[in-house]
Amino acid sequence: APDIPLANVKAHLSQLQTIATSNGGNRAHGRPGFRASLDYVKGKLDAAGYTTTIQSFTSSGATGYNLIADWPGGDADQVLMTGAHLDSVTAGPGINDNGSGSAANLEVALAVARENFHPAKHLRFGWWGAEELGLVGSNYYTSNLGATERAKIKGYLNFDMVGSPNPGYFAYDGDGSSGSGGPAGSAEIENTLRAYFTSINVQVRDTAFDGRSDYGGFIRYGIPAGGMFTGAEEIKTSAQAQLWGGTAGQAFDRCYHSSCDTSSNINDTALDRNADSIAYAVWNLAGAAQPPG
Ligand code: PHE
Ligand code: CA
Ligand code: ZN
Ligand code: ZN
Ligand code: ZN
Repeated sequence: APDIPLANVKAHLSQLQTIATSNGGNRAHGRPGFRASLDYVKGKLDAAGYTTTIQSFTSSGATGYNLIADWPGGDADQVLMTGAHLDSVTAGPGINDNGSGSAANLEVALAVARENFHPAKHLRFGWWGAEELGLVGSNYYTSNLGATERAKIKGYLNFDMVGSPNPGYFAYDGDGSSGSGGPAGSAEIENTLRAYFTSINVQVRDTAFDGRSDYGGFIRYGIPAGGMFTGAEEIKTSAQAQLWGGTAGQAFDRCYHSSCDTSSNINDTALDRNADSIAYAVWNLAGAAQPPG
């Protein structure tokens, strides 16, 4: 898998910050900053050769959008999907929540194109709208796919808050080693992400796989899922600070859902490691590269 350039991920975050600043300070559902964020991501994907689709829905009286990007090729009946929510809360620009996952997901998609990666599975990338209103966009996507299209999705990887300023390294507990776990196949996703962090000597701990982000609609339909998370409003314990560094007794993200969730609210090391882990998982879960046809 390629090493995802941190500078590229940060350049996307800087663009999302600029979009928020010039649109009333946020990128929230129903606000112009959300649509501008979507147009930014779509422009990059179109230029790289993706087939992009905007899916519209209505929530709280406003039109929302999901952006779906398909990388041409692979077995159309075996889809590997990654996703991140692109909306912020109205309180601020949402750079860690969830510019971080959105930018990492975008840069992995662009790396697929740069490397001309043609794996056995078909690759699909999603950016969800209205997560902050209750996973509205991602639930709309999964419930409107229909059973046949849903059954083709063999795995879904979710990234929501992957650059917290006082980070932890949490994997959704797909194998159920500390909770109820996910659909069959989720353990393989968790183990693949964990294998990346093992390779760079970073400890990973489980976090609840309870539907608090956009994988919820996927696991409800039995689709194997997983993902990483660097922590939100919870306080880092001293044991966690020993494991990962940072500041015990402070939140993983003190600017969670606040106006201070700006481009300064990012731990670069965490963002880089998580972006690299997504690439590692995509390359390893998508099946062997196909010879050019
Ligand atoms: N979905 C939460 C939000 O956007 C953040 C979160 C992500 C919480 C992953 C737990 C696990 O506010
Ligand atoms: Ca990197
Ligand atoms: Zn949020
Ligand atoms: Zn979020
Ligand atoms: Zn686990």
